[in-house]
Amino acid sequence: MNVCVIGTGYVGLVTGATFADLGNEVICVDKDESKIERLKRAEMPIYEPGLEEIVRRNMEEGRISFTTDIAEGVKRSLVIFIAVGTPPKDNGETDLSQVESVAKEIAYHMDSYKIVVNKSTVPVGTGDLVRRIIEQHRRRQVDFDVVSNPEFLKEGSAVYDSMHPDRIVIGAPSQHVAMALLELYAPLEVPMLITDVESAEMIKYASNAFLATKISFINAIANICEKAGADVMLVAKGMGYDKRIGHEFLQAGLGFGGSCFPKDTLSLRHVTRKFGEDSSLLDAVLAINEDRVPRFVRRIEQRFAGDVSGKTFGILGLAFKPNTDDLREAKSLEIIRLLQEKGARIRAYDPVAMENAKAVLENVTFSKSAYDAAEGTDAVIIVTDWNEFKLLNLEKLREKMRQPIIFDGRNIYQPERVRKYGFEYFSIGRP
Ligand code: UDX
Ligand code: UDX
Repeated sequence: MNVCVIGTGYVGLVTGATFADLGNEVICVDKDESKIERLKRAEMPIYEPGLEEIVRRNMEEGRISFTTDIAEGVKRSLVIFIAVGTPPKDNGETDLSQVESVAKEIAYHMDSYKIVVNKSTVPVGTGDLVRRIIEQHRRRQVDFDVVSNPEFLKEGSAVYDSMHPDRIVIGAPSQHVAMALLELYAPLEVPMLITDVESAEMIKYASNAFLATKISFINAIANICEKAGADVMLVAKGMGYDKRIGHEFLQAGLGFGGSCFPKDTLSLRHVTRKFGEDSSLLDAVLAINEDRVPRFVRRIEQRFAGDVSGKTFGILGLAFKPNTDDLREAKSLEIIRLLQEKGARIRAYDPVAMENAKAVLENVTFSKSAYDAAEGTDAVIIVTDWNEFKLLNLEKLREKMRQPIIFDGRNIYQPERVRKYGFEYFSIGRP
């Protein structure tokens, strides 16, 4: 099938690469010329395990191409995916301007029947909005349909997730339209659910908000554990064995960051209030999340008798989660900003997000390794649970530091083991 994907961010690029790998002819469009130039040389604009290999292979075999020319993409394809960014506005509402402008351009260039698919995460009702925009702006009376086909991939395992999704959700106006999408996904051999457009849009938001709720729930439990002398890691493990609960997304820590959970939960709250419904559940999920970093920093300050000015901290991990170089809503930025405001000095290291971090952080000494980041510090702070931090030589780490103190925001170590190496160790939700 001829497929066009508009937007080559995380979602668009991985989606395009996946469809090409399944044997389709894919044309990826982005208005960012420098991104397209790099992609034509098979240079990835983002760090994502396995992505470069699959793009390169499909380029060589002629199944994926890159262009800034949306007209070409639209004319050549039957199915057009919209995968542009949908960032939040200040009031939490989703900014749909990129989706709207792409819809107008599709309308302008359509010369035969098209299936326009919303892949970006968009609030319920956006499918209808896109349909109205295309109707108003098409230059020829050609037919089209609008489908919602939300994406559930996670950064850091995006290629794997998109090849092995738990389910495919297709929100289509008719069975006939849904069949075209079914055909596209059939080789994956995974469960597919066909719904109306609005339900598909809600499935995406409800799923993300539910996972965010799980994280805030376990973080609220962690707060109680700290006071009660319980260990939240054991509590989560004990809960997770119940199949109705499951083990995933019960890792207590610094809260959820990234480009999706914070903005999608805010957006669902906005929609809830817009419909005049009670948003208190989502209010609590967001409030708990917003207090994670301030609470953690208060704990650090307490250890230094309320004054961290002149102290040096080694930050391990800058990306919002492991296996990505993405810094959107990363807890590292918030922690560093708070500590700097209080007069602390910061050294930092991340296995892949250093270049991105240099562009947004000031007065930070960027280090060559975790050990280098620990050099002369009063404490090391673990912010991202990269595997390489789990395997550090703690003896060597301690020797570099001025004071052997670790604040572990992701519970990557066993307290007894770290203490055996002579560290003072603070973690989340553990006595
Ligand atoms: C995606 C989804 O689309 C978003 O809805 C979801 O919630 C998170 O993941 P992401 O892939 O991270 O967003 O977006 P981003 O990295 O912003 O990439 C979007 C791309 O679209 C950019 O490369 C941008 O240049 C391109 N774009 C934007 C266009 O080509 N045309 C436009 O009119 C607007
Ligand atoms: C999320 C969804 O998982 C994915 O389905 C959707 O398509 C996009 O949004 P992503 O943001 O890439 O994916 O990462 P995810 O692994 O879900 O982590 C999000 C945040 O939650 C990270 O900051 C992570 O550190 C945090 N998290 C995750 C926890 O604090 N505890 C957990 O148990 C799991």
